[in-house]
Amino acid sequence: MKVFGILLLTLVTWNVSAADSATLEAGKTVFMTNCMVCHGEKGNGKGLAAAALDPKPRNFKKGFKEFKFGTTLEAIVTTISNGSPGTAMPPFKDALKPEQLNAVASYVRSLAGAKD
Ligand code: HEC
Repeated sequence: MKVFGILLLTLVTWNVSAADSATLEAGKTVFMTNCMVCHGEKGNGKGLAAAALDPKPRNFKKGFKEFKFGTTLEAIVTTISNGSPGTAMPPFKDALKPEQLNAVASYVRSLAGAKD
C-alpha cells in the first residue's frame, strides 16, 4: 500500500507542468480520427495522404521550428480552428468542439516536445 502511495504521488507530480494525462489521452483520440491520415500515426507527417500533398503535412516530431502560426497552446488552437489557407490543412472549427480543439492542440504540443 505504501509503495502504491509513493507511485501515485510520483505520477501526480510528474504531470504538474505538462498538460494532464486525461487531456493528452482525449487529444490522441481526436488526432487518430481527424489528423492521422495526413500527419501520420506518430505525428511524423507521413500519413497515407501525405505523398499526394504539397506542401507536406507538418512533421511534429521535428519540434516547433517549422511552425508558421505560433507554438503556444492558444496559437495552435487557432491554427487548427482556421486551417492553413492555400494548403491541405483544413479548418476544424465546425468539426470539433472547443474542448476537443484544446485537447488535440495539447497532444500536438506534446508530440513536438513541449515541456509546458
Ligand atoms: C488533409 C490533410 C490534413 C489533415 C486532415 C490535417 N492536417 Fe494539419 N497540416 C496539413 C498540411 C498540408 C500542413 C502544412 C500547412 C502549411 O505548410 O502551411 C499542416 C499543418 C499543421 C500544423 C502546423 C501549422 C503551423 O503553424 O505551421 C498543425 C499544428 C496541424 N497541421 C495540426 C493538425 C491537426 C491537430 C489536425 C487534426 C485535427 C490536422 N492538422 C489535420 C494537412 C492536414
